Amino acid sequence: MLVGGEMSYASTDQMVGNISHTVPGACGTTHSISRLGIPSTVMADGPAGVRISPFREDDDATYYCTAFPIGTALASTWNTEIVRNVGKAMGVEAREYGLDIILAPALNIQRDPLCGRNFEYYSEDPLLSGKMAAAMVQGIQSQGVGTALKHFAVNNQETKRVANQANLTRRALYEIYLKGFEIAVKEAGPWAVMTSYNYVNGVYASESYDLLETVLRQRWGFDGMVMTDWFGGDDPVRQMIAGNDLLMPGRQIQYDRILQAVMAGELGMEVIDRNVRRILSFVFKTNSFNDYAHSDSPDLSYSADVALEAAKESVILLKNDGLALPLSDGGKRVALFGNTSYDYISGGTGSGDVNEAYTVSLYDGLKNRKFRVFRRLASSYRKYIRTEAAKIVPDYEKNPLYDFLCHPRINEYEVNSRLLKRSARVNDAALVTIGRNSGEHADRVVNEDFNLKDCELKLIRDVCSVFHKAGKPVIVILNVGGVVEMSSWKDMPDAILLAWHGGQEAGDAVAAVLTGETNPSGHLPVTVPASYFQCPTADNFPYDHGADVQEILHNVLDVRGKSNELRNVDFTDYEEDIYVGYRYYDTFDVTPAYPFGHGLSYTDFRYRDLLIERSEDHFVISLYVENIGDVTGKDVVQLYLSRPVADRPEKELIGFKKTPELLPGEATHIAFRIPYEMLAFFDEKSNGMLISPDSHTFHIGKSSADIELSATVEPVICMELLKYPDILSPEKNIHILKP
Ligand code: GLC
Repeated sequence: MLVGGEMSYASTDQMVGNISHTVPGACGTTHSISRLGIPSTVMADGPAGVRISPFREDDDATYYCTAFPIGTALASTWNTEIVRNVGKAMGVEAREYGLDIILAPALNIQRDPLCGRNFEYYSEDPLLSGKMAAAMVQGIQSQGVGTALKHFAVNNQETKRVANQANLTRRALYEIYLKGFEIAVKEAGPWAVMTSYNYVNGVYASESYDLLETVLRQRWGFDGMVMTDWFGGDDPVRQMIAGNDLLMPGRQIQYDRILQAVMAGELGMEVIDRNVRRILSFVFKTNSFNDYAHSDSPDLSYSADVALEAAKESVILLKNDGLALPLSDGGKRVALFGNTSYDYISGGTGSGDVNEAYTVSLYDGLKNRKFRVFRRLASSYRKYIRTEAAKIVPDYEKNPLYDFLCHPRINEYEVNSRLLKRSARVNDAALVTIGRNSGEHADRVVNEDFNLKDCELKLIRDVCSVFHKAGKPVIVILNVGGVVEMSSWKDMPDAILLAWHGGQEAGDAVAAVLTGETNPSGHLPVTVPASYFQCPTADNFPYDHGADVQEILHNVLDVRGKSNELRNVDFTDYEEDIYVGYRYYDTFDVTPAYPFGHGLSYTDFRYRDLLIERSEDHFVISLYVENIGDVTGKDVVQLYLSRPVADRPEKELIGFKKTPELLPGEATHIAFRIPYEMLAFFDEKSNGMLISPDSHTFHIGKSSADIELSATVEPVICMELLKYPDILSPEKNIHILKP
């Protein structure tokens, strides 16, 4: 009973009892015990939408699900209401297709730009991650479908993911890598948590009593079910004792080992009873147990509307020189460059993928909004894409994991100079889309992935040169699952939109922003580094030891002056400690391409009348946000804290608010309630949370680098805060970064 039935992995020793016939393409089940009236329950991925097979044998019906914007795009809205609505729509689809739990949200910290699954995750910041995850959980569970927070914890790379030794300080663990999970558990009560594959300071996450019982349950009050990732961990007896209740997908060998340990008195029945009780409490909540008559026909048009609204709010306007955007009504003749404009990417690959019915490309979206897309150019692109793509598919079709892998993207079509000049002559603007994809099972690389390919740089350079000569603007659109290098080219185009993977409706969303129908209000949930080797993790993120190695050696030496030892991919030392993302760039005075929290609008906002009030246990920090431009728009107000403590980040996000739409001239009052304990930080020496007795400073910003208002407050009365048991310490001494 402690091991689930499995669907999607071919394994000779899998447990009997799976019910793949119920919902084909779902990824797992728990087992039924009919004599006790316990049904199987059915699980499906994932963070950007429900992943099941769209077709079934001997069945003419289709079972498509909606591809919503990826996690990073949802976080870019900084709007928990939008994310909750996406969760609700996903929950309806899961319920109506007969599923009991969605294995989402995924909220691992985006520690390094090369992590292949960053697209599934929200942010480099734990507060933003946690709030987004909580909203997603609330949305999905409001529809009677469970969620599983994943991957708990410290799963920040795909390289050697099932056995990577993540070594980090307890300060980094509690303040950065667990904090998002803590917020989501306490604010939203997920039905389940999925443990990660990796070790955390020497112990498999799925075998760590300290992580699962002491922290997750005793400290945070989690009362749901803990499950493994698929085939995660090693010793089922240790997993049982640690409180990893359910082993997915479930193997006979695990069942036999547990039975043998109980018979041998190695594993007490009280442990089994405890874990079974948790699994049953999960089962009793499910639609399968409560005989919900699912329709198999959720309202996908409603979901599409929700996906479109979320995609619109996720688009980030990074740059808009000379107000190149929005394209005026007259400027509807556009030349559309870049393969990805036509072959648009809705989401990432692997378990975070979705089998959606369609993807609205940027070309489609522009046509839907009556843009006159230069036909000569479009037909050349579409012919080229068809021809080149056909050369790739066969290699991949042989691979049994074909649908699961990230397929290489063809090189950019070489637009000849005649067509280029003609495009500039007869069109009002040029749009250039750059596409990137990534997914489960592989991390990204620096060359021609994080860095643009030569053919892409050439395309941007040539289009800018010819269109600027003709006095026409150039807009670059990034249809990517993770950040890319921008410093070498961002000064060339007039405007840049970071559209991420916006789901199946993405093309309409980007077109709406281009026309000004939608005023962009997305803000960066991650920093865009000026180069990969500027990242605080560049020294110790496991690289693809292929083409990159010389560049890495050269850059690592140049930039860091450290030994050119390349880290072993079997372990990852989190040497940057708590200095992740903006916490590093701001504190070490390193200028990125674009800072965390950055995002422009077609209007402008002014912050005024900052007021800080205090009571016996919290602050209320309030201000007015005024739209001082001439179009309606939404803003993201960010609240940062500077603690007067050595070896602390310069500032840390402790609150954010997405304003409602503000009309030109309209102002709204924003208030943050900050309990004193939010000033606390983890102190390794005292083994607990401390609040400095000195003055603290609050900052109101439009990004981590653009602070508009600040105010310093007198010390708060020091309060005795929670001590931590002396657990989860790193097994080895980690050489950590210090300011
Ligand atoms: C995977 C993923 C996990 C997913 C599970 C089921 O290996 O790591 O995120 O939910 O399998 O597909």
